[in-house]
Amino acid sequence: MIIYDTQNTLKAFVKAQKLEGKTIGFIPTMGALHKGHLSLVRNAMTDNDIVFVSIFVNPTQFGNATDLEKYPRTLDADVALLKTLGKNVFVYAPSVTDIYNSDINAEKFSFDGLEFEMEGKFRTGHFDGVGTIVKRLFEIVTPDNAYFGEKDFQQLMIIKKLASKYKLPVHVIGCEIFREASGLAMSSRNQRLSDHAKKESAFIYKTLLEAKKKFGTKSALKVKEWVQNQFNKHPLLTLEYVEIANIKNLKTTKRKSKNETYRIFIAAFIENIRLIDNIALN
Ligand code: PAJ
Repeated sequence: MIIYDTQNTLKAFVKAQKLEGKTIGFIPTMGALHKGHLSLVRNAMTDNDIVFVSIFVNPTQFGNATDLEKYPRTLDADVALLKTLGKNVFVYAPSVTDIYNSDINAEKFSFDGLEFEMEGKFRTGHFDGVGTIVKRLFEIVTPDNAYFGEKDFQQLMIIKKLASKYKLPVHVIGCEIFREASGLAMSSRNQRLSDHAKKESAFIYKTLLEAKKKFGTKSALKVKEWVQNQFNKHPLLTLEYVEIANIKNLKTTKRKSKNETYRIFIAAFIENIRLIDNIALN
């Protein structure tokens, strides 16, 4: 498998592919690939002639130096996994310099308020970092279609907004959350959990499903309070937030309106590792 580590070599290859009329699917990742990432790659392989996966731990989206440093980096294993998928999958694994030169800073973006809700409240500057890297990657890879997981639903919405605001010629496609048999949403961070914590973390999805049932008859506020109580009783998990948000604009709400569509979002810590999850409510 060819691994491109500079944008110039990648651009030359992409140009040649486009001259042959090939369509390009793209999955940006930070590596430590798991079945959730691979499900995105499979979707891209169905829709496109060739598929690029970028593997780059983006420094400008981490608020915390320790989190950045501890983020798992497993390039050889990632490449081995991607190889099993097929010949039309290519990797872009750039250095920090290839992306940022010497200016390792995020640009400032407005995503029309999407960036101030939920993750935005707890991870200041995070979405500026995500916007910066994804915009640059889109400009380098020039994909026809780009695939993002609903696991990071707010990120998916922000990338859609980025593409429409900057008129980027790419279709942004959302893909379902891939889960462990226990229900735990797959995440690169799960690798850092002890077996016990991993087992306990299935509680997050279980609670989301119960919350969905309650949402049929109770107000958003009551459902949130119920979730908070469940977490208060849990010996290992600490809830950072639970929110119910309208999927149109991600505005969080205490009261639901008819004809609107909502999702419930959770961020929680276990063994100092931050996990997020969300599901559709109606
Ligand atoms: P990363 O966490 O590596 O995720 C890469 C893509 O995989 C994202 O679109 C994410 O939503 C998706 N993904 C992760 N776990 C998933 C799961 N269990 N099911 C389905 N999709 C899943 O998200 C990032 O990297 C970065 O912020 C990035 C967009 C690459 C910018 O640096």
